[in-house]
This record gives sequence, C-alpha cells and structure tokens, in this order.
Amino acid sequence: MRKRVLSGIRATGRLHLGNYLGAVKGMIELQNNPSYQCLYMVADAHTITTPYDPKQLSDNRKEIIIDYLASGLDPQKSILFIQSQIPEHFELTYYFSSIVTIARMQHLPTYKEKVKQYPQNNTMALLNYPILMAADILVYKANLVPVGADQEPHLEVAREIGRKMNQLFKTDFPEPIRFATKGEYIPSLKGEGKMSKSVEGSYINLTDSFDEIRKKIRSIPTATTAGGPLIGGLKTLFILGQIFLSSTDYQNFKNQYNQGNLQFSQMKDTLAQVIYEELKSFQERRKEIEKNEDYVNEVIKEGAIRAREIASQTLKEVKEKMGF
Ligand code: TYM
Repeated sequence: MRKRVLSGIRATGRLHLGNYLGAVKGMIELQNNPSYQCLYMVADAHTITTPYDPKQLSDNRKEIIIDYLASGLDPQKSILFIQSQIPEHFELTYYFSSIVTIARMQHLPTYKEKVKQYPQNNTMALLNYPILMAADILVYKANLVPVGADQEPHLEVAREIGRKMNQLFKTDFPEPIRFATKGEYIPSLKGEGKMSKSVEGSYINLTDSFDEIRKKIRSIPTATTAGGPLIGGLKTLFILGQIFLSSTDYQNFKNQYNQGNLQFSQMKDTLAQVIYEELKSFQERRKEIEKNEDYVNEVIKEGAIRAREIASQTLKEVKEKMGF
C-alpha cells in the first residue's frame, strides 16, 4: 500500500509566501511522487478556534481550494477536500480527547501564544486544536505531513496520541512525521518573528502585484553596517535570497555583504523580481480557475467522497476497538 500524506491550511484568508514555501511546496513535491497517496484539506474547523467572521470563512474555504489548484495541486493526483465535510474528523477528536490530559494541551507553545493574542477567547475549541489536528492526520493513517517548522509541537501530540491509542486499544496508527522543505521557517519582513497572516506588514501574499512585492521587500529593515551576523531583517533578506536567487547571484550578494559594499536596494529589487516571476504563473492560473466555479465545486465534492471513504473505515475500526 502507498504511504499516505495529509496536510491542511486554515481558511483565514489568502495564502502568503510562508504558507507556500513551508507547506504548499512540500505538498506538491509529494503529490508528484507516485509512492504517496496525498490528501490536502482546508482546515476550516480549525479556523473557528480564534475570532472569525462567518461570511469570510464561507468565502475563504473555496479560496484556499483555488489557491491549491493554482499552485499546482492536481485533483487527479491528490484528494483535495474541506475538513468540515468529513464528520469523522470530529468524532475521532472526541474519542482521542478521552486519552489526552488538559495539562498536556495547556503546555503547548501554540496554545499559550493564541491565549496571549486573544485573552477573551480561551475556549475549549482552542484547547482542543491539537487533538483535532491529530484526528485529521490519523483518520487517514498518514505517515508524512508537509508543514512548516511551527507545526512540529502539534505533530508531536499526534504521535503521542497514536502511540497511546495503539497501546490501549491495539489500533495500528503510524507515527506521522513532518516533511520539511527548505522554506520550513520564513521569517517576518519586519525582521522579528515569523511571516504570519496575523501580523500586518510581515508577509507577501501570493496574489501581490510586482509593485506590492517590491515595496514590501524594500521595507525589510537592513542595517548598513556590513559583514555582521545575519539577524533581524538581514536574516529575512538572506533566507529569501537563498530560496529564490540563483546560487551565483546569492553568493555575489553575500560576498558583497561580507566585504561591506552590498547595495541593499539592488539585492532587494533583484529578489522582488525573482519572487514575482515565480508568483506570476500562480496568479495567471488562479485567474483562470476563478472563472470556473463549477469545476472548483466538482473538485470539492469529489474530494469529500474520496476522503470520507478512507476516514469512515478508520473510524469503524476505532469504535470497535474502543468498545462501541
Ligand atoms: P496554518 O494555516 O497556520 O499554516 C499553513 C501552513 O503554512 C505553514 N507556515 C509557514 N511555513 C514557513 N514559514 C512561515 N512563516 C509559515 N507560516 C505558516 C504552516 O507551518 C502550515 O504548514 N495547524 C495547521 C493547519 C492544520 C493541519 C492539520 C496541518 C490543521 N490540521 C493537519 C497539517 C495536518 C495550521 O494552523 O496551519
């Protein structure tokens, strides 16, 4: 049997460069490897763990599927679906919650961050976030999960849950591991923390125009002192440089930096151009797909049927083993 791959992105808005480099690129790579069966979802149920607008959620669910298609995910090769259309995820979450302690959930860095960010929203759904994510992965018995480095603590929880289920109920869940890309951690354009949708000015959207990209890259704070350690905005600039520039260009800019004669504006504008080139084909494909709503609806419908076939099988096994 082919190994399974599962990943998802919350429906919080348009994808940014961090999502693309940390997750989507890995998703595409695995999809194009015939040894894997890939399932990629829109994590719409995870979206409501922080404050949200129902109208926006409703739109964004489809937008993410369009982003997936435009990036090169192919419904002939991968199962593309919307999480909430597979109720087995929620049922499994409940069974899993019976073997997870509250203390374990409260200690997760992602939980603590979100509570700090939204103190009025310290909800059970937020606390349950990693259990639902474990159910997303394990309901398909997925072995590989292409996600950014920030998701590692959640994967650790999924492995723990799988292990404990196997011990207690003799199930056969695998230990899912993260599939990392070279863009597994894209820092913020502001030079502090990671590129994130929730931090204004930190990200480049996949749909940004060339002018927007150039303006944003130019705004990366870069110190004028040369040759020092690559920290803050310099780190962001050089990480993006390493990913997008040719190795010759990258090395030239790096040498100039070390020698103290790098013209930051030149490196930034070159980088903006190359990023735009890569996003341009995505943007063109996206425009085409947007026009074809029936096709997108068909992909979603078909994806749900195929995902559910697998998920219901796992759920049946788990229920039997747990005594239901
Ligand atoms: P989300 O929606 O926050 O992010 C989607 C994906 O983008 C990656 N990512 C980044 N990678 C590199 N650098 C960055 N600055 C950056 N910002 C975001 C994330 O690591 C992620 O891969 N919990 C998940 C959604 C989810 C999921 C799942 C993923 C729900 N169930 C099951 C995998 C399997 C999340 O919040 O992703």
